[in-house]
Amino acid sequence: MTAPEVRRADFLMTLAYATDLATGHSRDFALRSCVLAMRFAEVAKLDQETRRSIYHQALLRYIGCNADTHLLAAAWGDEITLRRELHHIDMGNRAEFVEIFVRAITRKYPNASPEELAEAVKRGLAEGPQVNIPILSGHCEVAQRIAERIGLPESTRENLGQIYERWDGKGLPRGLSGNAVKFPVRVVTMAQDAIALNDHHGFAIMKGMIAKRAGGGYEPELVDLFLTHAETLLTGLDEPVDRETILALEPHPHSMLSEGAAEEAYVAIADMIDMRMPFTFGHSRAVASLAGAAAKQMGLPAPDIRDVRRAAYTHDIGELAVPVSTWMRAGPLTERETDAAHLHPYHGERALASLGGDGRAVAALVQRHHERLDGSGYHRNSRGPDLSPAARILAAAEAFQTAREERPYRPASTDAAAAAKLRAAVKEGKLCPDAVEAVLTCAGQPARRATGARLAGLTPREIEVLRLIAAGHTAKEAAHKLDIAPKTADNHIQSLYSKIGATTRAGAALFALEQGLVQHT
Ligand SMILES: [Fe+2]
Repeated sequence: MTAPEVRRADFLMTLAYATDLATGHSRDFALRSCVLAMRFAEVAKLDQETRRSIYHQALLRYIGCNADTHLLAAAWGDEITLRRELHHIDMGNRAEFVEIFVRAITRKYPNASPEELAEAVKRGLAEGPQVNIPILSGHCEVAQRIAERIGLPESTRENLGQIYERWDGKGLPRGLSGNAVKFPVRVVTMAQDAIALNDHHGFAIMKGMIAKRAGGGYEPELVDLFLTHAETLLTGLDEPVDRETILALEPHPHSMLSEGAAEEAYVAIADMIDMRMPFTFGHSRAVASLAGAAAKQMGLPAPDIRDVRRAAYTHDIGELAVPVSTWMRAGPLTERETDAAHLHPYHGERALASLGGDGRAVAALVQRHHERLDGSGYHRNSRGPDLSPAARILAAAEAFQTAREERPYRPASTDAAAAAKLRAAVKEGKLCPDAVEAVLTCAGQPARRATGARLAGLTPREIEVLRLIAAGHTAKEAAHKLDIAPKTADNHIQSLYSKIGATTRAGAALFALEQGLVQHT
Protein backbone atom coordinates (compact mmCIF):
# COMPACT_ATOMS: atom_id res chain seq x y z
CA MET A 1 0.00 0.00 0.00
CA THR A 2 1.34 3.44 -0.88
CA ALA A 3 1.78 5.73 2.11
CA PRO A 4 -0.56 8.74 2.01
CA GLU A 5 0.90 12.07 0.99
CA VAL A 6 0.53 15.13 3.18
CA ARG A 7 0.21 18.80 2.31
CA ARG A 8 3.53 20.63 2.48
CA ALA A 9 1.59 23.69 3.58
CA ASP A 10 0.94 21.92 6.89
CA PHE A 11 4.66 21.90 7.61
CA LEU A 12 4.99 25.51 6.52
CA MET A 13 2.36 26.45 9.10
CA THR A 14 4.22 24.56 11.81
CA LEU A 15 7.40 26.40 10.92
CA ALA A 16 5.48 29.68 10.83
CA TYR A 17 4.06 29.11 14.31
CA ALA A 18 7.48 28.20 15.69
CA THR A 19 9.20 31.21 14.18
CA ASP A 20 6.47 33.53 15.44
CA LEU A 21 7.35 32.31 18.93
CA ALA A 22 11.09 32.69 18.43
CA THR A 23 10.85 36.18 16.98
CA GLY A 24 8.39 37.60 19.49
CA HIS A 25 5.62 38.07 16.97
CA SER A 26 1.96 38.13 17.90
CA ARG A 27 -0.32 35.10 17.64
CA ASP A 28 -0.61 33.75 14.09
CA PHE A 29 1.47 36.64 12.80
CA ALA A 30 2.93 34.77 9.83
CA LEU A 31 -0.42 33.21 8.97
CA ARG A 32 -2.21 36.56 9.11
CA SER A 33 0.51 38.18 7.02
CA CYS A 34 0.10 35.35 4.52
CA VAL A 35 -3.62 36.11 4.22
CA LEU A 36 -2.89 39.82 3.79
CA ALA A 37 -0.15 39.27 1.21
CA MET A 38 -2.33 36.85 -0.77
CA ARG A 39 -5.24 39.32 -0.72
CA PHE A 40 -2.81 41.95 -1.97
CA ALA A 41 -1.70 39.58 -4.73
CA GLU A 42 -5.35 39.25 -5.76
CA VAL A 43 -5.83 43.03 -5.86
CA ALA A 44 -2.59 43.43 -7.82
CA LYS A 45 -3.68 40.65 -10.20
CA LEU A 46 -0.37 38.84 -9.83
CA ASP A 47 0.35 35.64 -11.72
CA GLN A 48 0.20 32.21 -10.14
CA GLU A 49 3.95 31.70 -9.73
CA THR A 50 4.42 35.08 -8.05
CA ARG A 51 1.54 34.26 -5.72
CA ARG A 52 3.20 30.97 -4.83
CA SER A 53 6.44 32.78 -3.99
CA ILE A 54 4.56 35.29 -1.85
CA TYR A 55 2.76 32.47 -0.03
CA HIS A 56 6.08 30.81 0.83
CA GLN A 57 7.80 34.05 1.76
CA ALA A 58 5.03 35.09 4.16
CA LEU A 59 5.01 31.76 5.98
CA LEU A 60 8.75 31.15 6.01
CA ARG A 61 10.41 34.54 6.16
CA TYR A 62 11.94 33.91 9.58
CA ILE A 63 12.75 30.19 9.46
CA GLY A 64 16.48 30.86 9.50
CA CYS A 65 16.29 33.24 12.45
CA ASN A 66 16.87 30.52 15.00
CA ALA A 67 20.47 30.08 13.96
CA ASP A 68 23.13 31.32 16.36
CA THR A 69 20.58 32.87 18.67
CA HIS A 70 23.01 32.38 21.54
CA LEU A 71 25.35 34.93 19.91
CA LEU A 72 22.52 37.42 19.64
CA ALA A 73 21.56 36.80 23.27
CA ALA A 74 25.17 37.11 24.41
CA ALA A 75 25.42 40.53 22.79
CA TRP A 76 21.96 41.95 23.53
CA GLY A 77 20.30 39.85 26.25
CA ASP A 78 16.65 38.77 25.85
CA GLU A 79 16.49 38.34 22.11
CA ILE A 80 12.74 37.74 21.91
CA THR A 81 11.94 41.12 23.47
CA LEU A 82 14.58 42.77 21.28
CA ARG A 83 13.05 41.26 18.16
CA ARG A 84 9.54 42.22 19.24
CA GLU A 85 10.61 45.85 19.60
CA LEU A 86 12.37 45.81 16.24
CA HIS A 87 9.14 44.82 14.49
CA HIS A 88 7.64 48.25 15.14
CA ILE A 89 10.43 50.53 13.95
CA ASP A 90 11.72 51.62 10.58
CA MET A 91 14.96 49.66 10.36
CA GLY A 92 16.38 52.25 8.00
CA ASN A 93 16.04 54.98 10.62
CA ARG A 94 19.24 54.94 12.62
CA ALA A 95 17.82 56.92 15.54
CA GLU A 96 14.98 54.44 16.05
CA PHE A 97 17.35 51.55 15.58
CA VAL A 98 19.84 52.85 18.14
CA GLU A 99 17.08 53.51 20.68
CA ILE A 100 15.99 49.86 20.57
CA PHE A 101 19.52 48.57 21.02
CA VAL A 102 20.21 50.96 23.89
CA ARG A 103 17.05 49.65 25.54
CA ALA A 104 18.28 46.07 25.05
CA ILE A 105 21.62 46.84 26.68
CA THR A 106 19.85 48.55 29.57
CA ARG A 107 17.74 45.41 30.09
CA LYS A 108 20.81 43.24 29.91
CA TYR A 109 22.59 45.11 32.74
CA PRO A 110 19.81 45.97 35.19
CA ASN A 111 22.22 46.62 38.08
CA ALA A 112 24.85 48.64 36.24
CA SER A 113 25.76 52.15 37.40
CA PRO A 114 25.08 55.01 34.96
CA GLU A 115 28.80 55.08 34.08
CA GLU A 116 28.95 51.32 33.51
CA LEU A 117 25.79 51.46 31.42
CA ALA A 118 27.16 54.31 29.30
CA GLU A 119 30.31 52.29 28.66
CA ALA A 120 28.26 49.17 27.77
CA VAL A 121 26.09 51.17 25.36
CA LYS A 122 29.14 52.74 23.72
CA ARG A 123 30.82 49.37 23.33
CA GLY A 124 27.60 47.63 22.18
CA LEU A 125 26.83 50.18 19.49
CA ALA A 126 30.42 50.20 18.26
CA GLU A 127 30.54 46.42 18.03
CA GLY A 128 26.91 45.98 16.94
CA PRO A 129 27.48 45.69 13.19
CA GLN A 130 30.22 43.08 13.68
CA VAL A 131 27.80 41.06 15.78
CA ASN A 132 24.61 41.58 13.81
CA ILE A 133 25.68 41.35 10.18
CA PRO A 134 27.18 37.83 10.31
CA ILE A 135 24.16 36.64 12.32
CA LEU A 136 21.69 38.10 9.82
CA SER A 137 23.67 36.66 6.90
CA GLY A 138 23.54 33.31 8.67
CA HIS A 139 19.77 33.61 9.05
CA CYS A 140 19.37 34.04 5.30
CA GLU A 141 21.64 31.11 4.51
CA VAL A 142 19.96 28.79 7.01
CA ALA A 143 16.51 29.78 5.74
CA GLN A 144 17.59 28.88 2.22
CA ARG A 145 18.99 25.52 3.27
CA ILE A 146 15.87 24.59 5.27
CA ALA A 147 13.73 25.60 2.29
CA GLU A 148 15.79 23.32 0.08
CA ARG A 149 15.35 20.41 2.47
CA ILE A 150 11.60 20.74 2.46
CA GLY A 151 11.65 20.80 -1.32
CA LEU A 152 10.83 24.43 -2.02
CA PRO A 153 11.76 25.87 -5.43
CA GLU A 154 14.86 27.87 -6.25
CA SER A 155 12.84 31.10 -6.51
CA THR A 156 11.65 30.72 -2.92
CA ARG A 157 15.19 30.08 -1.75
CA GLU A 158 16.41 33.23 -3.51
CA ASN A 159 13.69 35.26 -1.81
CA LEU A 160 14.61 33.87 1.60
CA GLY A 161 18.15 35.12 0.99
CA GLN A 162 16.85 38.70 0.98
CA ILE A 163 14.59 38.86 4.02
CA TYR A 164 16.23 41.95 5.50
CA GLU A 165 16.79 43.87 2.26
CA ARG A 166 14.91 47.12 1.58
CA TRP A 167 13.72 49.21 -1.36
CA ASP A 168 16.06 52.10 -0.44
CA GLY A 169 19.19 49.96 -0.11
CA LYS A 170 19.48 50.43 3.65
CA GLY A 171 18.80 46.77 4.39
CA LEU A 172 21.13 43.98 5.34
CA PRO A 173 23.31 42.14 4.64
CA ARG A 174 23.94 43.18 1.03
CA GLY A 175 22.25 46.57 0.82
CA LEU A 176 20.32 45.65 -2.32
CA SER A 177 17.91 48.29 -3.59
CA GLY A 178 14.95 48.81 -5.94
CA ASN A 179 14.20 45.97 -8.30
CA ALA A 180 17.27 44.07 -7.12
CA VAL A 181 15.11 43.19 -4.12
CA LYS A 182 12.84 40.40 -5.39
CA PHE A 183 9.22 41.38 -5.91
CA PRO A 184 7.73 38.80 -3.45
CA VAL A 185 10.21 40.04 -0.82
CA ARG A 186 8.99 43.62 -1.35
CA VAL A 187 5.35 42.60 -1.03
CA VAL A 188 5.78 40.43 2.06
CA THR A 189 8.04 42.88 3.91
CA MET A 190 5.36 45.55 3.57
CA ALA A 191 2.51 43.14 4.43
CA GLN A 192 4.26 41.84 7.54
CA ASP A 193 5.08 45.32 8.76
CA ALA A 194 1.45 46.31 8.19
CA ILE A 195 0.27 43.44 10.40
CA ALA A 196 2.82 44.23 13.12
CA LEU A 197 2.04 47.96 13.08
CA ASN A 198 -1.71 47.36 12.97
CA ASP A 199 -1.40 45.07 16.02
CA HIS A 200 0.73 47.57 17.89
CA HIS A 201 -0.69 50.96 16.92
CA GLY A 202 -4.08 50.35 15.36
CA PHE A 203 -5.32 50.84 11.81
CA ALA A 204 -5.06 54.61 11.40
CA ILE A 205 -1.51 54.95 12.71
CA MET A 206 -0.42 51.87 10.78
CA LYS A 207 -1.60 53.45 7.54
CA GLY A 208 0.27 56.65 8.30
CA MET A 209 3.49 54.79 9.08
CA ILE A 210 3.30 52.66 5.93
CA ALA A 211 2.69 55.82 3.87
CA LYS A 212 5.68 57.55 5.48
CA ARG A 213 7.95 54.67 4.57
CA ALA A 214 7.07 54.75 0.83
CA GLY A 215 10.34 54.99 -1.05
CA GLY A 216 12.19 53.97 2.11
CA GLY A 217 11.52 50.44 3.23
CA TYR A 218 8.84 49.87 0.59
CA GLU A 219 8.30 50.38 -3.11
CA PRO A 220 6.07 53.48 -3.56
CA GLU A 221 3.73 51.82 -6.09
CA LEU A 222 3.06 48.95 -3.71
CA VAL A 223 2.35 51.38 -0.90
CA ASP A 224 -0.17 53.27 -3.06
CA LEU A 225 -2.01 50.10 -3.98
CA PHE A 226 -1.98 48.86 -0.40
CA LEU A 227 -3.31 52.12 1.03
CA THR A 228 -6.06 52.28 -1.58
CA HIS A 229 -7.40 48.90 -0.43
CA ALA A 230 -6.08 48.78 3.15
CA GLU A 231 -9.43 48.49 4.89
CA THR A 232 -10.59 45.54 2.78
CA LEU A 233 -7.19 43.90 2.85
CA LEU A 234 -7.01 43.92 6.65
CA THR A 235 -10.60 42.92 7.35
CA GLY A 236 -10.71 40.28 10.09
CA LEU A 237 -6.94 40.07 10.38
CA ASP A 238 -6.80 41.07 14.02
CA GLU A 239 -8.16 37.57 14.77
CA PRO A 240 -6.31 34.22 14.60
CA VAL A 241 -6.39 32.41 11.27
CA ASP A 242 -7.33 28.74 10.98
CA ARG A 243 -5.48 26.02 9.12
CA GLU A 244 -8.12 25.59 6.43
CA THR A 245 -7.87 29.25 5.44
CA ILE A 246 -4.13 28.91 4.81
CA LEU A 247 -4.55 25.61 2.98
CA ALA A 248 -7.18 27.19 0.72
CA LEU A 249 -4.88 30.12 -0.12
CA GLU A 250 -2.11 27.95 -1.54
CA PRO A 251 -2.00 28.40 -5.32
CA HIS A 252 -2.73 25.28 -7.38
CA PRO A 253 -1.35 22.72 -7.80
CA HIS A 254 -1.03 22.11 -4.06
CA SER A 255 2.38 20.81 -3.01
CA MET A 256 2.28 17.34 -1.53
CA LEU A 257 4.99 15.48 0.38
CA SER A 258 5.64 11.77 0.05
CA GLU A 259 6.28 9.74 3.22
CA GLY A 260 10.03 10.14 2.72
CA ALA A 261 9.80 13.87 2.03
CA ALA A 262 7.62 14.33 5.13
CA GLU A 263 10.25 12.52 7.18
CA GLU A 264 12.91 14.87 5.82
CA ALA A 265 10.70 17.83 6.71
CA TYR A 266 10.55 16.58 10.31
CA VAL A 267 14.34 16.29 10.37
CA ALA A 268 14.65 19.82 8.98
CA ILE A 269 12.43 21.07 11.81
CA ALA A 270 14.60 19.16 14.30
CA ASP A 271 17.73 20.86 13.03
CA MET A 272 16.07 24.26 13.02
CA ILE A 273 15.14 23.83 16.69
CA ASP A 274 18.52 22.55 17.76
CA MET A 275 20.73 25.10 16.06
CA ARG A 276 19.54 27.80 18.41
CA MET A 277 22.14 26.97 21.07
CA PRO A 278 25.43 25.08 20.84
CA PHE A 279 24.60 22.52 23.52
CA THR A 280 21.38 21.36 21.87
CA PHE A 281 23.03 20.80 18.51
CA GLY A 282 21.93 17.36 17.26
CA HIS A 283 19.78 16.73 20.35
CA SER A 284 16.48 16.02 18.56
CA ARG A 285 18.07 13.72 15.98
CA ALA A 286 19.67 11.72 18.80
CA VAL A 287 16.39 11.45 20.74
CA ALA A 288 14.61 10.37 17.55
CA SER A 289 17.18 7.70 16.86
CA LEU A 290 16.90 6.30 20.39
CA ALA A 291 13.11 6.55 20.63
CA GLY A 292 12.55 4.99 17.22
CA ALA A 293 14.89 2.08 17.96
CA ALA A 294 13.40 1.50 21.41
CA ALA A 295 9.85 1.54 20.02
CA LYS A 296 10.88 -1.05 17.47
CA GLN A 297 12.55 -3.21 20.09
CA MET A 298 9.44 -3.09 22.25
CA GLY A 299 7.39 -4.30 19.31
CA LEU A 300 5.20 -1.22 18.83
CA PRO A 301 3.18 -1.14 15.59
CA ALA A 302 4.84 0.62 12.63
CA PRO A 303 2.63 3.76 12.78
CA ASP A 304 3.49 4.18 16.48
CA ILE A 305 7.21 3.80 15.75
CA ARG A 306 6.95 6.47 13.07
CA ASP A 307 4.95 8.80 15.35
CA VAL A 308 7.34 8.53 18.29
CA ARG A 309 10.30 9.18 16.00
CA ARG A 310 8.61 12.25 14.51
CA ALA A 311 7.57 13.47 17.94
CA ALA A 312 11.20 13.14 18.99
CA TYR A 313 12.31 15.27 16.05
CA THR A 314 9.93 18.03 17.07
CA HIS A 315 9.55 17.60 20.84
CA ASP A 316 11.31 20.84 21.78
CA ILE A 317 9.81 23.09 19.12
CA GLY A 318 7.93 24.91 21.90
CA GLU A 319 11.25 25.88 23.50
CA LEU A 320 11.43 28.65 20.94
CA ALA A 321 8.89 30.57 23.02
CA VAL A 322 11.46 30.99 25.80
CA PRO A 323 14.47 33.31 25.36
CA VAL A 324 17.84 31.67 24.89
CA SER A 325 19.13 33.65 27.86
CA THR A 326 16.82 31.57 30.06
CA TRP A 327 17.99 28.23 28.68
CA MET A 328 21.63 29.31 28.92
CA ARG A 329 21.43 30.50 32.52
CA ALA A 330 24.08 28.82 34.65
CA GLY A 331 22.23 29.71 37.86
CA PRO A 332 18.70 28.95 39.00
CA LEU A 333 15.69 30.29 37.10
CA THR A 334 13.10 32.55 38.68
CA GLU A 335 9.67 31.10 39.33
CA ARG A 336 8.28 32.95 36.33
CA GLU A 337 11.07 31.68 34.08
CA THR A 338 10.49 28.13 35.29
CA ASP A 339 6.78 28.43 34.54
CA ALA A 340 7.55 29.70 31.04
CA ALA A 341 10.08 26.93 30.45
CA HIS A 342 7.61 24.29 31.66
CA LEU A 343 5.05 25.46 29.13
CA HIS A 344 7.19 24.49 26.15
CA PRO A 345 5.38 21.15 25.63
CA TYR A 346 2.14 23.14 25.36
CA HIS A 347 3.62 25.44 22.71
CA GLY A 348 4.99 22.38 20.96
CA GLU A 349 1.55 20.81 20.72
CA ARG A 350 0.16 24.09 19.40
CA ALA A 351 2.93 24.38 16.80
CA LEU A 352 2.15 20.92 15.50
CA ALA A 353 -1.60 21.44 15.48
CA SER A 354 -1.49 22.36 11.81
CA LEU A 355 -0.32 18.86 10.96
CA GLY A 356 -3.72 17.29 10.50
CA GLY A 357 -4.34 13.54 10.39
CA ASP A 358 -1.31 11.59 11.62
CA GLY A 359 0.19 14.80 12.95
CA ARG A 360 -2.31 14.79 15.82
CA ALA A 361 -0.69 11.70 17.33
CA VAL A 362 2.72 13.35 17.00
CA ALA A 363 1.44 16.51 18.68
CA ALA A 364 -0.06 14.48 21.55
CA LEU A 365 3.30 12.82 22.19
CA VAL A 366 5.15 16.13 22.07
CA GLN A 367 2.75 17.52 24.63
CA ARG A 368 3.63 14.64 27.01
CA HIS A 369 7.39 14.42 26.59
CA HIS A 370 8.17 15.76 30.09
CA GLU A 371 5.32 13.98 31.86
CA ARG A 372 6.11 11.31 34.45
CA LEU A 373 4.16 8.24 35.52
CA ASP A 374 3.69 9.55 39.08
CA GLY A 375 2.31 12.92 37.96
CA SER A 376 5.50 14.82 38.83
CA GLY A 377 6.22 15.92 35.25
CA TYR A 378 4.93 18.91 33.31
CA HIS A 379 2.98 20.75 32.06
CA ARG A 380 -0.26 18.88 32.76
CA ASN A 381 1.00 16.55 35.50
CA SER A 382 -0.39 13.61 33.56
CA ARG A 383 -0.10 10.18 35.15
CA GLY A 384 0.56 6.64 34.02
CA PRO A 385 -2.83 5.84 32.51
CA ASP A 386 -2.56 8.89 30.25
CA LEU A 387 0.88 7.90 29.02
CA SER A 388 0.97 5.44 26.14
CA PRO A 389 3.96 3.14 25.53
CA ALA A 390 5.10 5.58 22.84
CA ALA A 391 4.86 8.51 25.29
CA ARG A 392 6.85 6.54 27.87
CA ILE A 393 9.55 5.72 25.34
CA LEU A 394 9.82 9.35 24.24
CA ALA A 395 10.11 10.50 27.86
CA ALA A 396 12.84 7.93 28.56
CA ALA A 397 14.77 8.70 25.36
CA GLU A 398 14.58 12.44 26.00
CA ALA A 399 15.72 12.04 29.61
CA PHE A 400 18.67 9.82 28.67
CA GLN A 401 19.87 11.99 25.81
CA THR A 402 19.53 15.20 27.83
CA ALA A 403 21.44 13.72 30.76
CA ARG A 404 24.40 12.86 28.57
CA GLU A 405 24.53 16.33 27.03
CA GLU A 406 26.19 19.29 28.68
CA ARG A 407 24.01 22.11 29.97
CA PRO A 408 25.19 25.54 31.20
CA TYR A 409 24.32 24.60 34.79
CA ARG A 410 25.90 21.10 34.80
CA PRO A 411 28.42 18.95 32.93
CA ALA A 412 27.36 16.06 30.69
CA SER A 413 26.83 12.72 32.43
CA THR A 414 28.67 9.68 31.20
CA ASP A 415 26.41 7.15 29.52
CA ALA A 416 26.67 4.91 32.57
CA ALA A 417 25.73 7.74 34.92
CA ALA A 418 22.86 8.78 32.65
CA ALA A 419 21.63 5.17 32.67
CA ALA A 420 21.83 5.12 36.46
CA LYS A 421 19.77 8.33 36.61
CA LEU A 422 17.07 6.79 34.47
CA ARG A 423 17.01 3.62 36.54
CA ALA A 424 16.73 5.73 39.67
CA ALA A 425 13.74 7.47 38.07
CA VAL A 426 12.25 4.03 37.45
CA LYS A 427 12.65 3.16 41.12
CA GLU A 428 10.94 6.41 42.05
CA GLY A 429 7.99 5.50 39.86
CA LYS A 430 8.60 8.30 37.37
CA LEU A 431 9.75 6.47 34.24
CA CYS A 432 8.54 3.19 32.76
CA PRO A 433 10.99 0.33 33.40
CA ASP A 434 10.35 -1.34 30.05
CA ALA A 435 10.78 1.91 28.14
CA VAL A 436 13.95 2.77 30.03
CA GLU A 437 15.52 -0.65 29.50
CA ALA A 438 14.64 -0.55 25.80
CA VAL A 439 16.17 2.93 25.41
CA LEU A 440 19.30 1.97 27.34
CA THR A 441 19.76 -1.20 25.34
CA CYS A 442 19.41 0.78 22.12
CA ALA A 443 21.95 3.27 23.48
CA GLY A 444 24.43 0.43 23.87
CA GLN A 445 24.19 0.19 27.63
CA PRO A 446 24.54 -3.29 29.16
CA ALA A 447 21.09 -4.80 29.47
CA ARG A 448 19.88 -5.04 32.99
CA ARG A 449 18.11 -8.21 33.93
CA ALA A 450 14.97 -6.58 35.08
CA THR A 451 12.57 -9.45 35.24
CA GLY A 452 12.31 -11.89 38.13
CA ALA A 453 13.68 -14.73 36.05
CA ARG A 454 16.67 -12.69 34.90
CA LEU A 455 17.31 -11.44 38.41
CA ALA A 456 17.77 -14.92 39.79
CA GLY A 457 14.11 -15.17 40.72
CA LEU A 458 14.31 -12.44 43.36
CA THR A 459 11.04 -10.99 44.54
CA PRO A 460 10.62 -7.20 44.51
CA ARG A 461 10.96 -7.16 48.31
CA GLU A 462 14.16 -9.22 48.17
CA ILE A 463 15.54 -6.76 45.63
CA GLU A 464 14.81 -3.90 48.02
CA VAL A 465 16.54 -5.74 50.85
CA LEU A 466 19.50 -6.53 48.58
CA ARG A 467 19.88 -2.87 47.64
CA LEU A 468 20.03 -1.84 51.26
CA ILE A 469 22.41 -4.62 52.26
CA ALA A 470 24.64 -3.81 49.30
CA ALA A 471 24.69 -0.17 50.38
CA GLY A 472 26.12 -1.24 53.74
CA HIS A 473 23.02 -1.41 55.92
CA THR A 474 22.65 -4.14 58.52
CA ALA A 475 19.69 -6.49 58.42
CA LYS A 476 18.16 -4.59 61.33
CA GLU A 477 18.55 -1.24 59.55
CA ALA A 478 17.08 -2.69 56.38
CA ALA A 479 14.11 -3.99 58.36
CA HIS A 480 13.62 -0.56 59.88
CA LYS A 481 13.81 1.24 56.52
CA LEU A 482 11.36 -1.16 54.91
CA ASP A 483 9.11 -1.16 57.95
CA ILE A 484 9.24 -4.95 58.34
CA ALA A 485 10.18 -7.20 61.25
CA PRO A 486 13.93 -7.98 61.66
CA LYS A 487 13.14 -11.67 61.45
CA THR A 488 11.39 -11.13 58.09
CA ALA A 489 14.40 -9.22 56.82
CA ASP A 490 16.66 -12.10 57.90
CA ASN A 491 14.48 -14.51 55.98
CA HIS A 492 14.65 -12.32 52.87
CA ILE A 493 18.44 -12.16 53.14
CA GLN A 494 18.82 -15.91 53.47
CA SER A 495 16.47 -16.47 50.56
CA LEU A 496 18.11 -13.96 48.24
CA TYR A 497 21.65 -15.13 49.15
CA SER A 498 20.60 -18.62 48.21
CA LYS A 499 19.07 -17.47 44.90
CA ILE A 500 22.09 -15.42 43.78
CA GLY A 501 24.67 -17.86 45.08
CA ALA A 502 26.18 -15.39 47.58
CA THR A 503 27.53 -16.26 51.00
CA THR A 504 28.67 -12.84 52.19
CA ARG A 505 27.39 -9.30 52.17
CA ALA A 506 30.29 -8.36 49.89
CA GLY A 507 29.32 -11.08 47.43
CA ALA A 508 25.73 -9.85 47.45
CA ALA A 509 26.90 -6.24 47.01
CA LEU A 510 28.97 -7.20 43.97
CA PHE A 511 25.96 -8.96 42.48
CA ALA A 512 23.89 -5.83 43.05
CA LEU A 513 26.51 -3.72 41.29
CA GLU A 514 26.68 -6.10 38.34
CA GLN A 515 22.91 -5.89 37.99
CA GLY A 516 22.83 -2.12 38.10
CA LEU A 517 20.84 -2.13 41.32
CA VAL A 518 23.10 0.44 42.93
CA GLN A 519 23.02 4.06 41.97
CA HIS A 520 26.39 5.48 40.99
CA THR A 521 25.45 9.15 40.82
FE1 LIG B 1 11.57 19.40 26.28
